[in-house]
Order: sequence, then structure tokens, then C-alpha cells
Amino acid sequence: MTINESIASVRKSFRADLDSFPSDQREIELLRSKYFGRKGLFAGLYKKLAVVSNKEKPKSGQAINAFKIELQSEFEEKASLISGDNKDTDEQSLDLSLPGFPITNGSIHPLQQTLDEIKNIFKSVGFKVAYGPEIEDDYHNFEALNIPKHHPARDMQDTFFVENDVVLRTHTSNVQIHLMEEQEPPLRYIVPGRVYRNEAVSYKSYCLFHQIEGLYVDKNVSMADLKGILNYFVKRFFGEGTTMRFRPSFFPFTEPSAEVDIWDDKRGKWMEILGCGMVDPNVFDNVGYDSSIWHGYAFGMGIERMTMLKYGIDDIRLFYQNDVRFLEQF
Ligand code: PHE
Repeated sequence: MTINESIASVRKSFRADLDSFPSDQREIELLRSKYFGRKGLFAGLYKKLAVVSNKEKPKSGQAINAFKIELQSEFEEKASLISGDNKDTDEQSLDLSLPGFPITNGSIHPLQQTLDEIKNIFKSVGFKVAYGPEIEDDYHNFEALNIPKHHPARDMQDTFFVENDVVLRTHTSNVQIHLMEEQEPPLRYIVPGRVYRNEAVSYKSYCLFHQIEGLYVDKNVSMADLKGILNYFVKRFFGEGTTMRFRPSFFPFTEPSAEVDIWDDKRGKWMEILGCGMVDPNVFDNVGYDSSIWHGYAFGMGIERMTMLKYGIDDIRLFYQNDVRFLEQF
């Protein structure tokens, strides 16, 4: 057989194999080596070059090469069609009775849950909800609240300054001033919001946190009303059996002032939960309320702190890391 006859016979057998191309990967591999393998038909063709005359050799070599390239590309095209088909078969053989991947639900952030809970308690006894600016001027954050220039709360270390006389509010008490500037008494509000302090970040303090401010102004408001409302609130939030105490304290914008502690059985000690007091007459003067007619109380509590005490969380930073392992527990 001449080289050309051999090529023709390989072509014939290749046509036949292509017509009955296997669908099984293993058989495709077998077919591939039948033609292109080390002992395949093409290897046989190249061997035949040995008996071809030197004159004919280059021409015959080129003919085999071109033929091989042609068949290879046809073969690969067919093979890739088949393996594409196989993918389809894989999909069709999906077992629909297998259990699916679990879909995890998001949950409401623990701080938001606490905030909602506190809001609902105060709303149920007649408080409205108000909001105020986080970027605040010196006057509303400090001066109008009777916090003089030299007060430690104004220290560069505690306050983030946006520019001279403009700060990120250090508490929600700034909204007391806005509310009283905008409205005539009586008024009764709670004010949730974000506050900022330039403190070293640790397990107990973060550069931002949340507070809820309370403000009630009316005629004949007394310290007894303040104690009554906070007592009611603490029992509803922490549970009926909670023991609390008022401890004398100082805030420039309330007089007298107190801090409220609750007894923590697990830690075996009193834990402070909020600051409060009777609105200082100087504050009423600043907003143009007649302090001989109007009296009021105010309080402010940290939402992180309330959440930590209620659920026994010991690191404030957990609220800000968005670690699902923490969040999914709520
Ligand atoms: N603003 C005070 C604080 O951030 C809390 C407070 C509010 C105290 C209202 C008294 C009255 O610590």
C-alpha cells in the first residue's frame, strides 16, 4: 500500500467511527488513542515514511501532518459536543428529593431590638418619639445644657470636633434643647440616637454608641414622677423582680441629679444603667421657659449598656463587628 492508499483507508475508518461516535467518556478516550495514541493509526502512518524514497519523504510527511490536523479538529469538535451533552444528562439526573441547602434568615440587630423594646415601653405611657442632629454646634451640645467651657465633657479627649464649635454630639441631651426651642410646654418625649465619644476603644467603651434621652416638662412635675416612671420602666425591661436604687450624682443640666443602678445577681454588684434628674432652671432660662411655672425631668441611658446587662454580653465591640455567630443568637 502506498502512503496515499494508507491515508485513504484511515480516512474511511475514521468516517465510520465518527458516524457511530460513542457517548461514553471512556470509549471516547479509547477512540482517541486508536487514532492519535502512541500505537495508533497515525503512528502507523508515520512509520510507513521509513520505506518511502528520500525524494518523496517531505511531501508524504506533510500530507500525513495535514491529514492529522484535519482529523484531530473533527474529533475534538465531536468529543466536545458529546461532553456538552453529558452535562445536560447530569442535570437531568438531578435528584430532586435530596434535602436543599438551608436558607438562613437574617435577624434584627440586638441594639435595634433593645431600642424598639424601650421605645414601646415609653410610648405605652404617653411619650412621643423625636430625633435630632448628630452633628451639633457647641451651644446645643454644651452651652445651653449649662455645661461651661471648662467642663471635662468638653475635653479634647472626649469630644470629636468637626470644626471649631461644631462637634459630633456626645449625648442625646442636645435634643432636649431643640425640642424646647421649637415647642411650648408641656412636652413628653423620648429621643433615640447615635452619640460619639473620643475614648480609647475597649470591651466597655466604643467611639460611638446609642442613647435614649427622656424629657418631660409640665406643671407640678416632681422627682417622685421621675422615680415612678423609671421604676416602671426598669421592671418592664429587666423583669418584675429587678431591684433598683437611685444614687445622688451630678449633671450640669439637672438639679438634683441621680444615677440609677440595678442589682445584678450574676455579677453580685450594682450596675449603673442611666443618668437622670430634674431639669436645671438654667436650662429652662436658656430656652425661654419660665422656670417658676414649668418643671421637668430628664434621663439618658445607653442602649448598648442596657443590652449588655439584659443579655449578659461582656464586650461592647461585639455590637459593631457584625459577626453572624454573635448576631444569630438574638
Ligand atoms: N447626657 C447624660 C450622659 O450622657 C445622661 C443624662 C441625660 C443625665 C439626661 C441626666 C439627664 O451621661
